[in-house]
Amino acid sequence: MILVTGGAGFIGANFVLEWLAQFDETVINLDVLTYAGNHENLASLADDERHLFVQGDIGDSDLVASLLSRHQPRAIINFAAESHVDRSIHGPEDFIQTNIVGTFRMLEAVRAYWSNLPDEAGQSFRFLHVSTDEVYGSLAKDDPAFTETYRYEPNSPYSASKAASDHLVRAYHHTYGLPVLTTNCSNNYGPYHFPEKLIPLMIVNALAGKSLPVYGDGRQIRDWLYVKDHCSAIRRVLDAGNVGEVYNIGGWNEKPNIGIVHTVCALLDELRVRDDGKSYREQITYVTDRPGHDRRYAIDASKIERELGWKPAETFDTGIRKTVQWYLENQSWVANVQSGAYREWVEKNYTGRAV
Ligand code: NAD
Ligand code: TYD
Repeated sequence: MILVTGGAGFIGANFVLEWLAQFDETVINLDVLTYAGNHENLASLADDERHLFVQGDIGDSDLVASLLSRHQPRAIINFAAESHVDRSIHGPEDFIQTNIVGTFRMLEAVRAYWSNLPDEAGQSFRFLHVSTDEVYGSLAKDDPAFTETYRYEPNSPYSASKAASDHLVRAYHHTYGLPVLTTNCSNNYGPYHFPEKLIPLMIVNALAGKSLPVYGDGRQIRDWLYVKDHCSAIRRVLDAGNVGEVYNIGGWNEKPNIGIVHTVCALLDELRVRDDGKSYREQITYVTDRPGHDRRYAIDASKIERELGWKPAETFDTGIRKTVQWYLENQSWVANVQSGAYREWVEKNYTGRAV
């Protein structure tokens, strides 16, 4: 079996659902269920005995040690993290606790477990750490895309905490020989994306008749990848990646934020015409920028293609259409995630931003 952490969140849930659809191998899913973790993402697995959900913290050493000794997983995929840049600006503490301290405690428990495994099991064991392109910092307009050897220059508390976790993972390989793999991926989008991030926020606000808040001039560039392509890349790295190596994952798909918002509006104009017949673009408002906002991210994904033969299956056009359709078809999921805590967050982040 495998152990997945953070498997009730956006990417983790997609990963677990796809894993169990493709393989008959049990998943232990360790997730503390923060605001971003949602049992409903895994509702289709309610009667599936191959999915063992455990509510708990990656920083709880006793819990992690007991799960490892009881279930003896052959691999761990570490998704668990605080993941939203804007939240890290309002309050970095949770990011330090989970992304740095939590990853460290997890690594300690994993090292103790792995060092007692018999030879063959120890050699084939893998700890795959899921990270982000944001650790590399911000690119100027004409800079080449991030390769795996690009220097680390994280700019937000979120990216700094992820960078620290990447360094710890690297050090546990270098110092103790722990068989680790690290992946640094670009921005994901797709089903089950919590509507505090750009794409789902725009879909949900548009349908609710609310404003579509674009930070600054909207010309910041992100490199977007459909979440299922990220999951297939992780499976490929887990299968065939070289121990100790880093693999950048991306879709060769750089877009300015305003272009993303226009695409979402155009799809909604086609699939769910506004009552007054006007375009959802009318709802766009430019608001005060995010402090320290990174201007551009771009991933050079040639290593994973060259060495492991991985390429994304979706183009942006096919992926974003599937995503918008998913949100239109899953309005009860959308309603259920908009709890009081969600509304409080929206109020905290957007009230007082000048238009
Ligand atoms: P998410 O915020 O949607 O989900 C994170 C999950 O981790 C939640 O279910 C949450 O309950 C759980 N969690 C948080 N703290 C925990 C703890 N201490 N112990 C156990 N579980 C805990 O995040 P996501 O977008 O699914 O991202 C998953 C991973 O992928 C993160 O490590 C993130 O840095 C990385 N990543 C995300 C993106 C992206 O675009 N979303 C891109 C590249 C990399
Ligand atoms: P986000 O989804 O938070 O991802 P990240 O900051 O990790 O890249 O934001 C993506 C881009 O969209 C980023 O440049 C910030 C911008 N953005 C807005 O313009 N308005 C918003 O309301 C949000 C949430 C993000």
